[in-house]
Amino acid sequence: MSPHPHSERPTNVFPPGFLWGAATSSYQVEGAAREDGRALSIWDTFTAERGMDSGEVACDHYHRWPTDADLMAHLGMNAYRFSLAWPRIVPNGTGAVNPAGLAHYDRMVDGLLERGITPVPTLYHWDLPQALQERGGWTSRATSDAFAAYTEICLDALGDRVDTWLTVNEPWVASVLGYRLGLHAPGEEDLRTSLLVAHHLLLAHGAATQRIRERRPFARVGIPLSLFPNYPVTDDPADTAAAWGSDGYTNRWFLDPVLRGRYPADTAELFERLVGPLDWVRPGDLDLIGARPDLIGVNYYTRRRISAAAAEPLPWRVLPAQPGVPVTDSGWEDVPEVFYDLLVRLHRDYDIPLLITENGGVWNAEPGPDGRVRDTGRVRALRAHLLAMSRAIEAGVQVLGYLHWSLLDNLEWAEGYGQRFGLVHVDRETQRRTVKDSARYYAAVIAANRVVDATDGLAGKREDPGWG
Ligand code: FCB
Repeated sequence: MSPHPHSERPTNVFPPGFLWGAATSSYQVEGAAREDGRALSIWDTFTAERGMDSGEVACDHYHRWPTDADLMAHLGMNAYRFSLAWPRIVPNGTGAVNPAGLAHYDRMVDGLLERGITPVPTLYHWDLPQALQERGGWTSRATSDAFAAYTEICLDALGDRVDTWLTVNEPWVASVLGYRLGLHAPGEEDLRTSLLVAHHLLLAHGAATQRIRERRPFARVGIPLSLFPNYPVTDDPADTAAAWGSDGYTNRWFLDPVLRGRYPADTAELFERLVGPLDWVRPGDLDLIGARPDLIGVNYYTRRRISAAAAEPLPWRVLPAQPGVPVTDSGWEDVPEVFYDLLVRLHRDYDIPLLITENGGVWNAEPGPDGRVRDTGRVRALRAHLLAMSRAIEAGVQVLGYLHWSLLDNLEWAEGYGQRFGLVHVDRETQRRTVKDSARYYAAVIAANRVVDATDGLAGKREDPGWG
């Protein structure tokens, strides 16, 4: 793809109005699990059953959001992606609204706007009300209807001040880790069920999109997808075919219905061979799912290395990090050039504006004796990913903004609190927030609206107020 021929924009400068911020999700940061009428979610139940770290207290963001918002403003951020907790707003999943739950987000949206921060709420980031789980959860089509009704409640309460809505976070992770691999709530292990759930999550996205368009015609709507580019480990045609198969499973199974109104034929054929007819897809479903959103939320972390060797029941295998390739502290390959390839591919194949709704990695740096958190791995990776994104923009890809995962060190789902993704360090005992080097670097990028040198923002006297 050639750069814009007439563009006079200097390199690494971002378009005006570009959203710069960070992301979190309700269960991962809020805590206050039993306050103000919040009911249990499937993640409360799942973590309790398995004796895992839970979101009971998390980062106490439910109470500390005003100082966390001050902190974002201090760093120059102009956008914040957070999620609305369904079990706070409609504790039973359907029926009565909990006014205290809604009031919380109402205050928060006002508080963000007062600080010049655009609120970018996600309607669903995996904390399904437990009451709905007891009625079948996402295996039941009725849950998609319940989600549409819950969406209307959120729109009526916040829609006058929110102009970008995100629907269902990462249906691949929610369906595959939750229903095929048993790693996420509710912990089931069945491929057929996971495909049924994936369809209902997509239906929920479609129904929410329809409601948003009806009630807030000028708002933008998007779905955040976990997109894992699949790279064959060799150029053997069998590996190349396996990587394309795995791309169908992780990426096209979601991109194609949302943006083309159909499931990809090759992947559908494979799934039907493995689990029988996908007979839960009803007439009209794909029209609803395929009403093109205004943007795709790109959640990008790493690539998948694929070989043709089968890993039952799927006819490919995911290999560990390639020796010599840098990895994060959780062992994921840190490969910014893959981010560039992904953005260009999405533009080429789907021609849709992109919002980076997650990008980041685990670097577990702790405060040094001087109190400073030298997360140099994150500084380096952040800079490299921003450069890759900027190159993609120069190649013609429309990117609306960049929301780093995450604002805070938080509950990394089944991995617990041991994996730190934050720009801001959170002390687990005291909840004290410490601005890491990466956040200072990011603030320098935002201030300049271009990718500055890795040392910018880090030198000189530290003037961060204490964020107790
Ligand atoms: C994504 C999730 C997000 C976070 C990151 C690391 O899959 O959407 O909540 O856990 O991974």
